[in-house]
This record gives sequence, C-alpha cells and structure tokens, in this order.
Amino acid sequence: MSARARGSAVISKASATECFVYITLPGETSAVTAGKFVLGKNARGDALGQFVYRTKYLEDPNAVEIDPVELKLSKRTYETALLNGVFGALRDAGPDFWGRRVIEKHSGKPQLGELDYLLESPDDRAGALGFGLNATPPAPQRKFNKTIDLEKLQTLADALLEDELPNDPEAQQVQDLLLLGTSMGGARPKAVVQDDDGLWVAKFNTARDRWNYARVEHVMLRLAGACGITTAESRIETVGGRDVLMVKRFDREKTAKGYTRARMVSGLTLLRADEAPEARQNWSYLVLVEALRRVVEDPKRDARELFRRVCFNALISNIDDHPRNHAIIAKEKRWKLSPAYDLIPSVPVSTERRDLALDCGDQGRHANAKNILSQHARFLVDRTEAEKIVSDMKGQVEATWYETARASGVSEKDVETIRGAFVYPGFSL
Ligand SMILES: Nc1ncnc2c1ncn2[C@@H]1O[C@H](COP(=O)(O)OP(=O)(O)OP(=O)(O)O)[C@@H](O)[C@H]1O
Ligand SMILES: [Mg+2]
Repeated sequence: MSARARGSAVISKASATECFVYITLPGETSAVTAGKFVLGKNARGDALGQFVYRTKYLEDPNAVEIDPVELKLSKRTYETALLNGVFGALRDAGPDFWGRRVIEKHSGKPQLGELDYLLESPDDRAGALGFGLNATPPAPQRKFNKTIDLEKLQTLADALLEDELPNDPEAQQVQDLLLLGTSMGGARPKAVVQDDDGLWVAKFNTARDRWNYARVEHVMLRLAGACGITTAESRIETVGGRDVLMVKRFDREKTAKGYTRARMVSGLTLLRADEAPEARQNWSYLVLVEALRRVVEDPKRDARELFRRVCFNALISNIDDHPRNHAIIAKEKRWKLSPAYDLIPSVPVSTERRDLALDCGDQGRHANAKNILSQHARFLVDRTEAEKIVSDMKGQVEATWYETARASGVSEKDVETIRGAFVYPGFSL
C-alpha cells in the first residue's frame, strides 16, 4: 500500500502539521509552489500524510511531477500511511542521520517531528524540492560556503562528531553549524560548498575511520568509471593536512542567473521501501530494475547500467549499497538513473561469502558472479553479453585497482588494509 486516493481517512486537527512544497521547474532558478503537505494522524492515531497539488500548479504547462512513483500530476488527494506519513520523495529531500544530528544541535529542541527536519534544513537539499510555511516560496539561496571555508567546516564537523559543541542554540559555533549544509542525506559528515564550477558535496574523513575514506572513495569512482559506469565527478582537496572528498553535485547546474535544479528520487522511493530493519526484505535490485524500467526515458540503457553497478559493488565488496545510494534524476521532464556515488569498499572477515544490501539474483544478496548472472534478463542483457560484462569488469578491477589507488595517493598502508575488498575469492565460486 502507498499513496492512494481515498477520501475516507480523517486527519485529526490537533496533531496536524503542514507545509507548502515548492519546486524549481526544469531550467528555472527559483521555485514555485507545487502543493501542500499535511502530516496528521488518522482516527486510529497512526501517522497519515496527505499531499495535494495546487490547482494553479496543475494548470501550468511546464509543471512536472514530484516523483514518478507516488505523486504523479493529478488533482487527487494523495495519502500515505507508510514512512510515518512522509511520502518517499519528500523523505528523500530531507536530511538523514548526519543532517538530523546537525539540526537537533542547532534547534535546541529535545524532540523534533518529521516536518521539523524538512523545515529546519537549509535550501541545499538534493533534488528540486523545498519546504516552507508560506504559500509563496522564499528567494533561492544564493550564497554557499566556499572551498576556502573547508577547514572551518571540517573543524565544526569534528566537534559535532565528538559531541564537543555546547547545548546552546545561541552559541556561535552552534549557529555556524548550519553553514555545513545539512539537507543532504547520508550518515557521514559532509558540507555543501561552491566554487567557480558549481556546487560540491564535501565529505570529511573522521578520526574513527580505518583508512582514508575520502581518497579511497575518490578512487572507487575512478575505478567505476574505468568499468564503464557513469559516475559523479570528484576530486580531493587537502585542508589543514587532511583530505576532503569533493563530489560535484549532479542535481545542480550553475547558470548566469543562479542554479538550475534536477529532481531526484532515491531507490528507496522507487522500491516504495523503508530503511527499518524489517523492511529490508523488500530491498531488491530485481525489483528496483523493474521499477526503473517503468519510469525512465531509456530503460535499456539504465537497466544495463544498473547491472554494471551491481557487479561493481560485488567486485569491490561495497556492502553499503543500500537503496538510498541509488537515485533517479530529471533535469527536464523525463527521468534517468543518476550518476553513481557513495562507492565504498569493505573488508568483511569472510572471503567465501559476502552479501550486497539488496537481493541481486536467485541466491538472494550473495555478491557472487553466478548469482548476479542468474537474473540477467531483468537488466535487459542477454546471457552472453552479461557474462562478458562480468568477466571484463572483473579483469579491469583485478588489474587496475592497486595502481589506480596508488596513483591517486592512497598510502601503502591503506592499500594493504583494503586489499581484501577487491575480487574476493567468493565472487567467482
Ligand atoms: N554528487 C551528488 N549530487 C547530488 N546529490 C548527491 C551527490 N552525492 C550524494 N548525493 C546525495 O546525498 C546523499 C548523501 O551522500 P552520500 O551517499 O555520498 O553520503 P554518505 O554519508 O556516505 O551516505 P551513507 O549514509 O550511505 O554512508 C545521497 O544519498 C544522495 O541523495
Ligand atoms: Mg550514501
């Protein structure tokens, strides 16, 4: 069950909270109001979300759907009881573990509701949506942090992680937290910064990391590119002697009049799924690829690209390939698979069996060539071609991971620490 047009449920006024949902239309740099979201409770006390597109928006010939799964352009009142009443596409536009932590510190409120997280986060969120209490959207945020601010941002991120910031919303450091750019999802510390080329997600290393994550993630993006995968552009900045990974935002484009924004919806929303442990049984690449094929402009291209990504994740033991690490974007009306991002190797103890985060074949989540090949047809690749893709990618990773890492400045020690991630023995069993 998900969003549906049922007029029956009664929103209890006492617990209702609401906001307007803004959207920046394709090619535009400022937002319009797309509709209204009400988060309340039904008669049984369960969370219930309702969304209605504004009539004026629906009459606009340039209007686009918020997402192609739950909130297609229509006059109906959409309702959802899933995800605490927050539609997947709205949840995708909100902060995740990291951003929530920043907002909690900054707001000083002991308990925040789902809507507070959307309303209290700045306008640097992934995708084209915005949220506010006024019927008219605010002017777009034009000032972002610069690359030269990175050292300060990194220090703030460190202090937040170590819980060294005061519990005082008025304190300057806590005020400054919002500089980080809190709306982007994900668990790792990050900030949004701007340079002459556009907007970047800056991902920081932390004292607890087992290796230089920034540099290794940069290398994984390069390695994925060499395996024929379309990836986000990245580079390394070194500030105060520490490396920061800069990933170019593929949902923003700098123009003379400001930033255009692409809509963005996560794999979680495509699967109509949740991140709760009990919902994980619904995480499946086989279902994801079918959902993808239904909504994208070029199903064959994107399904095959997803096949490569599944294979790549298995080859580098990226077991953190959860559905929020996949997305579709729309710069214009039509949707396509986003460039790949957040590719991280891991070194589990077992060299025999490793599992991806999503089912990828007849043997469930097993990160193994035979398993990945078992459902090749769903990815619109025939058997011979699928076998060639797997064997070519395996050869590429085997032959080049080491030199790519070393040439990109990953230390000898780190290379040895992550060695076991690549083409682990169980891949070919
Ligand atoms: N280059 C990019 N352009 C636009 N949006 C991006 C980009 N990279 C990441 N995102 C968005 O930001 C979110 C967080 O980024 P990312 O997954 O890299 O962070 P993370 O903290 O490492 O995540 P995780 O919690 O999965 O470890 C992603 O889920 C995606 O929605
Ligand atoms: Mg992520």
